[in-house]
Amino acid sequence: MGIVNSISAGLFLFYFLPQAYSAMVVTYEEDKQNCPYFLENKEYQRFAVPVHGLVNCSWYADKACCKITEVTSVFSNMYPLYEATKTCSNMMNYLMCYFCSPDQHIWYKQRARVCTEFCTNLYEECKAASYNGKKLGSEYANGTAFCEAQDFSVVEGNCFKYDPKVFDGAVQHISFYLPYISSLIMILTVLII
Ligand SMILES: *[C@@H]1O[C@H](CO)[C@@H](O)[C@H](O)[C@H]1NC(C)=O
Ligand SMILES: *[C@@H]1O[C@H](CO)[C@@H](O)[C@H](O)[C@H]1NC(C)=O
Repeated sequence: MGIVNSISAGLFLFYFLPQAYSAMVVTYEEDKQNCPYFLENKEYQRFAVPVHGLVNCSWYADKACCKITEVTSVFSNMYPLYEATKTCSNMMNYLMCYFCSPDQHIWYKQRARVCTEFCTNLYEECKAASYNGKKLGSEYANGTAFCEAQDFSVVEGNCFKYDPKVFDGAVQHISFYLPYISSLIMILTVLII
C-alpha cells in the first residue's frame, strides 16, 4: 500500500464519513421520534409508531406516541364541556391529545410546553363554556392562567401549537382516500400499458 493509497483512504474518511454520519443521524431523527412524556413519567423508552383505529386523537394515527387505551382513559375521565362552541371543543380536544404527538421531543420537558398563542386563543374561544359547574372565563383570568392550572407550561417558541386543519372534514377525507386513489391510478396505468 503506497502513500497515494493511504492518502486517498484518509481523504475518503475525511470527506465521506461525516456525511454518512449526518445522513444516519437525520434518518434516525426522522424515523424514530422519541416520546419523552412517557419516559419522564417513569415509563420505558417509546418511539412514535402508527396506531390503527386511534379515537379522539385520530389525526395522530399515522404516527403517535400514545396507545388507544391511554386516550380512552384520559377522555373518559374528562369533565364534559357545556355551552362550548365547536371551535372551543376542537381546541380543548387538540390540547388534551398532546401526549399522542410524535413531536413531543421538541416541546416536552417535565411538562408540555404549550404556545402562549394557543392558550390565549383557547381562552377567548372557551371563556363562555363551563365544566364541572364553573364558567371558564370566571374561573381563570386569562389563557396562561388556564393552561398553567392544567399543568402545562406556557411559552413562546418550540411549543405545542394548535392545528385547526385536523378538524377539517375535507382534509381528512382527502388523506383517507389518497392511498386508494393512487393505487387506482397505478392499476389504470398498468391496464392501459
Ligand atoms: C372520544 O371518542 C369516542 C369514540 O369515538 C366518542 O364517543 C367520544 O364522544 C369522544 N370524546 C370526546 C370528548 O370527544
Ligand atoms: C394572566 O393572569 C395572571 C393572574 O392569574 C397574571 O399574573 C398574568 O399577568 C396574566 N397574564 C396576562 C398576559 O395578562
